[in-house]
Amino acid sequence: MADGTLHDAFLDELRDSYDAEKQLTKALPKLAKAATSPELRAAFEHHLEETRGQIDRLEQIFGLLDEKVRGKHCDGIAGIIDEGKSVMEEDFDEATMDACLIASGQRAEHYEMAAYGTLVAWARGMGHSEVANLLQQTLDEEKAADRKLSQLAEGGINQDAADAAHAEEENEIKAATPARAGRGRSSAADAPKRSRR
Ligand SMILES: [Fe+2]
Repeated sequence: MADGTLHDAFLDELRDSYDAEKQLTKALPKLAKAATSPELRAAFEHHLEETRGQIDRLEQIFGLLDEKVRGKHCDGIAGIIDEGKSVMEEDFDEATMDACLIASGQRAEHYEMAAYGTLVAWARGMGHSEVANLLQQTLDEEKAADRKLSQLAEGGINQDAADAAHAEEENEIKAATPARAGRGRSSAADAPKRSRR
């Protein structure tokens, strides 16, 4: 008969998160390096520091639970990091690259928010209140990091990328139809739809 309990599943998820945070300490410096916006670079660097603190917090949690500090390969975050790596290999303009780095970073944050949300709920359910409080601190940091990335995207980076995309469309229209050059900005309706990939 199967005898694994929620406590076993909880330890498994903690090990998964521990490994995910370790993977992120290697990925975040790459995101920071690829960013053009100084604010975006600072946001990734700040979250790298937080991530190191989150690793310490998980080690403290294993101690409180009387368990060995051990990670278990997190396939989910590995996949998200791999996707982020392929984005960085693309030949995007600076604003578009920043917008894509934010998209990659937010995928990681949302994955972690889901994981820590579950961990907090399970810890509370099993009466591990001190552990739950520590996990809640990490969950709050992940949510704040996600909000910061949204602020940067909505505070100019997405618009800069969109403006660059439209400027490029306009040049293409002028090159393709010289008779229309000088008529000013074309309407969105007659701008050709084009995909970057
Ligand atoms: Fe994290």
